[in-house]
Amino acid sequence: MNVLVTGGTGYIGSHTVVELQQKGYDVFIVDNLCNSHLGVIDAIEAITGIKPHFSKIDLCNAASVKDFFVRNRIDAIVHFAALKAVGESVEQPLKYYHNNITSLINLCQYAGEFSVKDFIFSSSCAVYGEPDYVPVDEKHPVKKAQSPYGATKQICERILSDIAVTGALSTISLRYFNPSGAHPSVLIGELPLSEPNNLVPVITRTAAGKRKEMVVFGNDYDTPDGTCIRDYIHVKDIAVAHISALERLREKKNKERFEVFNLGTGRGYSVLEVISCFEKVTGKKLNYRIGTRREGDVSKVYSDNKLSNAVLNWKATEPLEQMLLSAWEWEQKI
Ligand code: NAD
Ligand code: WQD
Repeated sequence: MNVLVTGGTGYIGSHTVVELQQKGYDVFIVDNLCNSHLGVIDAIEAITGIKPHFSKIDLCNAASVKDFFVRNRIDAIVHFAALKAVGESVEQPLKYYHNNITSLINLCQYAGEFSVKDFIFSSSCAVYGEPDYVPVDEKHPVKKAQSPYGATKQICERILSDIAVTGALSTISLRYFNPSGAHPSVLIGELPLSEPNNLVPVITRTAAGKRKEMVVFGNDYDTPDGTCIRDYIHVKDIAVAHISALERLREKKNKERFEVFNLGTGRGYSVLEVISCFEKVTGKKLNYRIGTRREGDVSKVYSDNKLSNAVLNWKATEPLEQMLLSAWEWEQKI
């Protein structure tokens, strides 16, 4: 079975390609390499022994997307490709709306024309905005997004649910919480082209001396230690969930043509807890200081994962220690 993985040289995409290949799927990666490296293809091959097919295509270019479907028979699509830097999306909203929405529209257009029905979409806990309650379940309302990036995920979900009504596509939208860590082989991991802003890479880069210090963004939140709480989930656990979602569509077990599932561990950790866990598992002392709040941060968000556990028959297995250890091993390699 031929699976198109857009954004397959990126962080979560590359881990998912490995899982798909190990399950026997033939993977076709499409990526424009705007935030990833071609070397990831060799790294994937080094893990699985199989080189995925690769096409360097900008999904915003409709003619190139059409040409891809003319040349390749595709049975299902896993769509990771998107821009994801929250801060940059506030500064350059049009870049985000253009890239994330145009690429989805082109993909859906030609998926329809070439009779591809099964679609997995990378969504985010960002669709919940500032949550009314935690843990957040899938019934929680989609509230005003904190950033244009979050808004693109809401709009893409809306587009996919409207297309589902026509019967052209069946979509499972997976709302990731905070993906972290690297593959146990330490051959793939998070390798963005620009300076990372997410907590775990900031911690590992500081510990490796690539940054002088790190700042904890506020300790005056309404949480036990005053720092924000998030649901960190190992990237490999996220990747495995895509196989379950794909099988659900292939076996036509989906109850609706548009379904959403949270992908999280269901457990929240504060920023200070993450730092202290990192120090414990690596034996490294982290140079950090408490600073002011970062605009747009919500105080706590973590998942209710009962639905994905039950319906996708999936469970996150890797503890925070393992996420931080693998992220640290990866940091020392890059
Ligand atoms: P990433 O930047 O590592 O991977 C995205 C890939 O998409 C990159 O390789 C990039 O080059 C490619 N891409 C972007 N625009 C493209 C376009 N127009 N045409 C072709 N390729 C394009 O990001 P990631 O962390 O792997 O995220 C994957 C998906 O998961 C994204 O949709 C992201 O929004 C979503 N997500 C990520 C997180 C997170 O914290 N990493 C959390 C929730 C959701
Ligand atoms: C985690 C916590 C920061 C850096 C983002 C997106 C979300 C989703 C996941 C894509 C927060 C604190 C961070 C630092 C810090 N992505 N922090 N110092 O903001 O929860 O979620 O990634 O869909 O949409 O918004 O993740 O890793 O940036 O921050 O204190 O240098 O770490 O304040 O509490 P976030 P993050």
